[in-house]
Amino acid sequence: MIEIKNLSKNYTLADGSVARILKNINLTVPDRSITAIVGPSGAGKSTLSKLISLLERPSEGSILVNGKDLSHLSGESLRAERRAIGTIFQSSALLHRKTAAQNIALPLEYLGVVKSDIEKRVKELLDAVGLPDKGNYYPSQLSGGQQQRIGIARALALHPQVILSDEATSGLDPQSTQTILRLLKKLRDEFELSIILITHEMDVVRNVADSIAAIRDGKIVEQGRVQDLVANPSSDIGRQLISLRVADAFNKRHLVAELTYGGNVPSNWSQILSKQLNAIVHLLGANIEQIGGGNLYGRALVGFEFLHTDRVDITAVGNALSHIGLHAEFKNNADFNENERRVAV
Ligand SMILES: Nc1ncnc2c1ncn2[C@@H]1O[C@H](COP(=O)(O)OP(=O)(O)OP(=O)(O)O)[C@@H](O)[C@H]1O
Ligand SMILES: [Mg+2]
Repeated sequence: MIEIKNLSKNYTLADGSVARILKNINLTVPDRSITAIVGPSGAGKSTLSKLISLLERPSEGSILVNGKDLSHLSGESLRAERRAIGTIFQSSALLHRKTAAQNIALPLEYLGVVKSDIEKRVKELLDAVGLPDKGNYYPSQLSGGQQQRIGIARALALHPQVILSDEATSGLDPQSTQTILRLLKKLRDEFELSIILITHEMDVVRNVADSIAAIRDGKIVEQGRVQDLVANPSSDIGRQLISLRVADAFNKRHLVAELTYGGNVPSNWSQILSKQLNAIVHLLGANIEQIGGGNLYGRALVGFEFLHTDRVDITAVGNALSHIGLHAEFKNNADFNENERRVAV
């Protein structure tokens, strides 16, 4: 577990003035959990990362790993305790003249671990990151995602309790990003790690984070467990997470339609449609008003998730909609093949 308490960081500028970059940061990452730190450029994410990895000292406050304050150590004790925190960098930062196995071995050699133990540990680590056959490859012979996994193996070499990842997936393609995120989740569970993920990518957060802290201007402006943020109507992060979730969920198997209310639309229209079409009707967004005697006016974006059928009859859907006063414009019918469309719209 890592506990960040009342952490502040000041830098002195050329004119002697002091810039307060981080202001009273409080954050706890329990064992076996992933906390994402998000925030706009210049918010202070990398500064926080440097403090957590003990590369820089806080101006105020402390960083505790399993109850032990590491933020004010120096010399030999700092070097010893730094092992508790493994860092993964943006561009994996492997040494290019050394093979994957030699890169992973570096922290162990530095500690003077005997050769046979190093070999054994390197093999374990290559297995742990899913690259058992790549030990003899040079970084230039590996893909970006594989290099990043070797970087993770190296970060794990000294059995850290905390893994800090500063933009470790930025620059990777979506598939490699997914592989890295799956690996981080596996490591969280297997080694009960506290993982801190600094990222500006919201879909990364949505995929792996158990908790989120948002920083802006050096301050935490929102923090909490993902499920709580998502359930909180006034949460900015919750809103961002949900809209992404929706976009992702509506894949080829869903028919997305923009509905315009033509008047006399019953207020329980989605229930009616749901029954008639044997579908779950997801309301993705709406701007609807009730005018006069209770009629609804406006527009809504919905996704139909059809149950028990792999054939979508768009004409039937359109008819059912117009019957209750809704005009539909289908957004993704091009994604449905001829067979699914059956009767062209
Ligand atoms: N050594 C330093 N001296 C003075 N100011 C600094 C120093 N390092 C960072 N800053 C300032 O701290 C602020 C936060 O920088 P930081 O690199 O932590 O941002 P970030 O959130 O990582 O942004 P990005 O998403 O662009 O990487 C910036 O305004 C920067 O100018
Ligand atoms: Mg940064």
